[in-house]
Amino acid sequence: MEILEEAKRRLKASKYTVVFTGAGISAESGIPTFRGKGGIWEKYPPPFFGNPIGIILSFLFTPRRVRDFIVDAGEMFLNAEPNRGHIAIAEMERKGIVKSVITQNIDSLHEKAGSRNVVKLHGNAGKWRCMRCGKKKESSKEEMRAVIEEIRTVSGRVSFIQRLRRIIPSCECGGIMRPDVVLFMESLPMREWERAVSEAHLCDTMLIVGTSGVVYPAGRIPFIAKNNRAFLIEVNPEPSSLTSFTELFIKGRAGEILPELGRM
Ligand code: OAD
Repeated sequence: MEILEEAKRRLKASKYTVVFTGAGISAESGIPTFRGKGGIWEKYPPPFFGNPIGIILSFLFTPRRVRDFIVDAGEMFLNAEPNRGHIAIAEMERKGIVKSVITQNIDSLHEKAGSRNVVKLHGNAGKWRCMRCGKKKESSKEEMRAVIEEIRTVSGRVSFIQRLRRIIPSCECGGIMRPDVVLFMESLPMREWERAVSEAHLCDTMLIVGTSGVVYPAGRIPFIAKNNRAFLIEVNPEPSSLTSFTELFIKGRAGEILPELGRM
């Protein structure tokens, strides 16, 4: 396949390659993407589950749907393991080809696969964040499993609130903690955003994997790289909103294409 060979040549010649990923890289780990048929937003629409106000309203009017959302999402993240795509990216970092990964994903599968320099634009599903002081607390697999089991049996608002008070850790400052993830209408973590912009400026090649590119400001990252003359390579089974701006589009699944790209 000529395009694949051309991409390999580009990566080999590159001095600073940055990978930009979205939900598609984790699809082969069993985590559905957000958009499209069978996507997370099809079952749990963003107006009700993707932003803070929607979640509060859903909690008031349909608490069982919020319960199902938390249990489904929690189980998905708990059971997922890195796939050949994540592993290939980590391997490319070890070989010195890839310098960093900028991801919109909250599943931590890049880190699990061995990637070290990971910029997480949308947070981390495995952590809590204090809403008052911003301090973060890691949640072990066992703690996450316990949270899911507590929530699984709630039947209404009152029992839900009682369980939440039991399972949500409190911060030393007395503040309430929440999952460390970014919802729609919320700002990105400033430090991560600045790191992402800096990496986009530094790279001469950007490998874009498994993202529709429609969510901003994350979707700006490939354009920042392109404005700085980076060469854009995209891996996706379908064209995305970014495809027409990329130099090379490799049609295919991350788990099939990335191990091949890393073979050099
Ligand atoms: P999307 O669901 O919008 O897009 C997933 C992309 O992955 C699509 O372009 C698919 O074609 C592609 N894809 C599917 N399977 C793949 C595979 N095996 N290998 C490679 N690509 C594959 O997900 P994101 O672009 O990540 O934000 O969505 C961006 C943001 O929107 C998310 O971080 C989330 C969401 O709302 C927030 O929640 C703030």
